[in-house]
Order: sequence, then structure tokens, then C-alpha cells
Amino acid sequence: MKILGIDTSCDETAAAVVVNGKEVLSNVVASQVEAHQEYGGIVPELASRKHIEAINYIVSRALAEADVTFKDLEAIAVTNRPGLIGALLVGVAAAKSLAYCHDLPLLGINHIEGHIYANYMVHDTLTFPHICLTVSGGHTLLVEVHKGWQYKVLGSTQDDAAGEVYDKVAKYLGLGFPGGKVIDELAQKGNPSAIKFPRPMRNSGDYQFSFSGIKTSVRYFVEKARRAGVLVENGRAEAKDANPDTVTVEDIAASFQAAVVDVLTYKSIRAAKSTSARAITLTGGVAANSQLRASLKIAAAEIGAEVYYPPMNLCTDNGAMIAGIAYEKYKQGLRDGLSLNAAANGSIVDV
Ligand code: KG4
Ligand code: ZN
Repeated sequence: MKILGIDTSCDETAAAVVVNGKEVLSNVVASQVEAHQEYGGIVPELASRKHIEAINYIVSRALAEADVTFKDLEAIAVTNRPGLIGALLVGVAAAKSLAYCHDLPLLGINHIEGHIYANYMVHDTLTFPHICLTVSGGHTLLVEVHKGWQYKVLGSTQDDAAGEVYDKVAKYLGLGFPGGKVIDELAQKGNPSAIKFPRPMRNSGDYQFSFSGIKTSVRYFVEKARRAGVLVENGRAEAKDANPDTVTVEDIAASFQAAVVDVLTYKSIRAAKSTSARAITLTGGVAANSQLRASLKIAAAEIGAEVYYPPMNLCTDNGAMIAGIAYEKYKQGLRDGLSLNAAANGSIVDV
């Protein structure tokens, strides 16, 4: 069963054709990152306009690369929640038009369910229930995933998403946007114990997260270091040269990352321990983080659990994960009408 999956929830215009939820025939993604770079973050209005420009071409490419036509498809699936409302609307309008024109069933999909499903597409040994940590620029969510794609949301961020905080810290340090990858790389050369940044809500006894305190703490530290002449604007090499004995951008990156990874690891492991879950899955753009992967792996081994993450093209926003989970939903009988609408918010359990 071939399903076309479309995702325009944030700043990637994505379409893919997937067979039976697992076999990816095509997975085409147009990133808008360059358009948003000069603003240091995603500009929602710009994202919507870029989606409109790209959507028809990206869908055609997805079909062409999969070597299929609309006649070969069983259904069209589209992310309709949660995300940037204007961005979501573009994908939803496109999917509705295509479903109507080609007389195909339409399925509105929750973006987070797509992220959660991504691991299942590539890891045949994944067991249920498992704990899924979704960490991206827009989300930080800890979920217990049960057979039949039933979920129990254990916790989420009370303020900023983990990726968002990486991006903000990169901005304070003049490292450009998005900042996750560059901070990850710098952190590998720094001392994670150089600065003790806070670990908000680490010991809150629940599975909620809060990252804005870490962000503010880094910001104050950077401002202070800059005033003291230890750091200079946009100049990490100069910063090191300025005073090699004092803290470096690498140390700040490593110490910041240590705080974020510590909290994420601690709560994920606690969640796995409290259930019978023997597997922890990581998904979303921050799942690429080398320290998070390593730290979770070590901690999971101590409790006899496995850690899984998908390849990068299934970790970040893509249409394949949407077509993937849509296959399961299709089998469960989900069909949406042409009245399908987009929603900026949307829990994965109240569907
Ligand atoms: O899932 P994604 O592509 O987009 C959404 O936000 O939906 O995630 C992008 C986020 C950005 O905040 C980026 O800085 C972060 O993932 N990211 C990383 C790494 N690579 C990307 N964060 C930490 N370490 C990385 N290696
Ligand atoms: Zn996402």
C-alpha cells in the first residue's frame, strides 16, 4: 500500500512515498534554513510563503523519485497539527486538493506521531512499550508508546524546546542559525565541567522539562564574559587568543550541552525504569546530538535498555514518517474529509 506523506509544519517542505509504512520509495525535503538564517530564527510568515512556492514541485519530485503516479497511491496523508499554523495550512490545502482531484482518501496526521514512528520504520527489533524522547526545534516530549500506537504523554517542556535553546545559545555566541550542530561540535573540544549551568526541574519528581533557565543563565554568563573582554562578538578564535587561561566558547558550549543532556538523559532513564520499557527511542533534530546519544546509551545500558535513533533524514522533519504512521492509521480506519483543518496545537492522545 503506497501512501503519499506531506509535511509543512515548520520550515521544511517535505513529501514522500512509502510502501506499507516502512519501505521509503522517496523522501524529498526542501529546507528553508537559508531564508531564515539572516533573521536568526524561523519567521512564520516567510515559512508559509516558501511552502507555497515549493509544495507542488516537492510533491511532483516525491512521485517521480518513487516512480509512481497518483493512480498508484492508496491514500494521501498530511501533517495537520501541531506546528506553525500558516505553514500547516499550505500542506493541508495541497493534500485536500490532491485527494479531491484524484479521488483518494485523506488522512490528517499529528506531526509528533510521525516523529515517534520514525524509529519503527528502521528498527525491526523495537519492542513495546517503549519510551520515546522527541527533541527538536519545536518540541521536547517524553512519551510512553504502546502497541497499536497508543500513547501516554509523560511530560513535555514547560517553556522552550531543547533545540530552540541550542539555537538561542548559538545566537548569543554569534554562531549562526541553526545552532545545534555547531554547538555539538564545539562542545567536543570544551570542558563540560568548566561552568556549572543549572539543571532546571531535574529533581522535580515528574517528567516535565524547563530549558529557559539554562538559556538565561548562559546568556548572562556570555554577557559577563564579553564585558570582561574574555569573549568578543562573533569571534571564537579571538576569544581563545584573548586569554587562553580563561573560559572559552568551547567550554561554554560543552557546559551548556552537559546541562541539557543531563536533564534529558535523567528523565528518559527514569521513565524507562518506571515502566517495563526495554527500549528508548530518540527522534527530532536534537537526536543528532552526539553527547545525548552517548549519554543515553551509557545510562540505558545500566538498566538493561537499548537506545534507538533513526538516520538523520528520518530524525528531522520529513514526509516519510507521516506516510509511515498514516499506514497504521489507515489500517485502524482513520479517514478525514475535505473539512480537515490545521491546528497550531494538538496532543497525540486526544485524537
Ligand atoms: O526536527 P528539526 O529538524 O526541526 C524541528 O524543529 O521540527 O530540529 C531542528 C533542531 C534545531 O533546533 C537544531 O539546532 C537542532 O535540531 N539540532 C541539534 C543538532 N543538530 C540539529 N541540536 C543539538 N545537537 C545537534 N547535533
Ligand atoms: Zn518536527
